[in-house]
Amino acid sequence: MTEKRRKLVGLSLGIAVGIVAALRWRQRQRARLASPLRCAGDKGVALITGASSGIGATYARALARAGYALILVARREARLQALAEDLSRQYHVPVEVLVADLADPAGVASVEARIAETGALAFLVNNAGLGTPGPFVENTIQSQEAMIRVHVNAAIRLTRAALPVMLARQSGAIVNVASLMAFYPLPGSATYAATKSCLKVFTEALHQELMGTGVRVQALCPGFTRTEFHDVNNITERGVPDFAWMSAESVVAQSLRDLEAGQVISVPGLGYRLLALLSGIIPRSLLYFVGYRTRRYRPASTPLGGFHKRTYAGFADFLADARYLVRHREQLRAAMRLIGPAFRERLMLAVTQVNACRYCSEYHAKLALRSGLSEDEVRQLLDGDAGHCPPEQRTAVLYARHWAEAAGNPDPDIRQTLIETYGTDKAVAIEMILRMINIGNLSGNTFDYILYRLSGGRLGH
Ligand SMILES: NC(=O)c1ccc[n+]([C@@H]2O[C@H](COP(=O)([O-])OP(=O)(O)OC[C@H]3O[C@@H](n4cnc5c(N)ncnc54)[C@H](OP(=O)(O)O)[C@@H]3O)[C@@H](O)[C@H]2O)c1
Repeated sequence: MTEKRRKLVGLSLGIAVGIVAALRWRQRQRARLASPLRCAGDKGVALITGASSGIGATYARALARAGYALILVARREARLQALAEDLSRQYHVPVEVLVADLADPAGVASVEARIAETGALAFLVNNAGLGTPGPFVENTIQSQEAMIRVHVNAAIRLTRAALPVMLARQSGAIVNVASLMAFYPLPGSATYAATKSCLKVFTEALHQELMGTGVRVQALCPGFTRTEFHDVNNITERGVPDFAWMSAESVVAQSLRDLEAGQVISVPGLGYRLLALLSGIIPRSLLYFVGYRTRRYRPASTPLGGFHKRTYAGFADFLADARYLVRHREQLRAAMRLIGPAFRERLMLAVTQVNACRYCSEYHAKLALRSGLSEDEVRQLLDGDAGHCPPEQRTAVLYARHWAEAAGNPDPDIRQTLIETYGTDKAVAIEMILRMINIGNLSGNTFDYILYRLSGGRLGH
């Protein structure tokens, strides 16, 4: 290429980039001016699902500060009431609480009905969400269905209910809280990634249908965000470094800025934005390889040349669990105080029976005898029979078995029964104990697996 031609190509490229940037800037300016967040005076009503904690509660605070009247939706009424009182006192806006389980069609219907009678609905945040970590095949189908109902069915139904109201006002905003996982379907999150990806695609298509109507939509795709999400859903953070975590406040602030600028997909955080961009060009085979190398648990049924116990998939997973124990040592101590020794050993034996860890079986059988369990009862628990447990502990012991069989992702209805039987504090303490013994079991089984491999299958059974 001659020098002259090179200069010409450079100049043309420069002009093209300049034109695209100018058009983009103009588009953003227009979007800003038309933003529903900008209108002065009465802002209308914002309905936020999953407002009892985390991103939802942060959204509620930000919108109350901006002057919206609020309807807060979730299951934990006490949390919603406390937030409602706080927000209405601080920002002088009306705040209403609507208790609804969005995994239940009746719960969704009650929110739809509330939307239909809210003529001034201006903002909808479909934020409620849950996670079920672990291999798909080890999660109960009920927990997967509950996730699909909350993430997909509820979001789509509430959007459908909200749009006629917003279109009549020629103004409104809908934020569907998806996840960076919408770009990265990784092992251990098959249904989660699929539902979040569904929300993202749904939002993008809807955006095109709604262009020019005054109603805007956004798929918010956060990366790791510090909320209760990981604790509530028993997700270990897999040694995620501190710098990778964002606060719910900065996630919501970015979402609102992007909404003002008319950005349909909002990915808070520069690093996460780059990752989202990369997802379009990264070879799928590389993604699958990384996913395979980093997957957390091997499904129990994975053929390991005759070794069939559940183990850690890598040292990083063991480290992540070890970190969990260190970080939560105070809560674990409190849980041990709340659940007496005999009760605790029954739970531990029930989990150990499922995971088939021979070291924990032996150790906890001894502790159980010392705590007052009879030899018969210990034997029965190790055979998977909870028949001899004191009646008041039986629900928890059966739950422990279910929890272990579901690899720490219990059926939500069964979990609810645990909470109703023992109260939230005791139920949380019980789950902490289950998680603690599960870590012991996986460590023992992983040690056995190493023995098994090193000895060519002779040891480690
Ligand atoms: N934290 C992260 O790293 C992260 C990253 C990407 C995306 N997200 C997404 O962000 C959203 C908010 O999560 P978060 O991080 O703020 O977690 P969070 O603190 O655990 O909040 C989840 C909210 O969803 C509500 N919820 C769960 N199941 C529900 C059901 N069946 N019916 C009604 N409400 C239900 C919970 O309220 P009740 O329990 O009171 O019902 C809670 O208010 C979720 O959609 C999540 O997938 C989170």
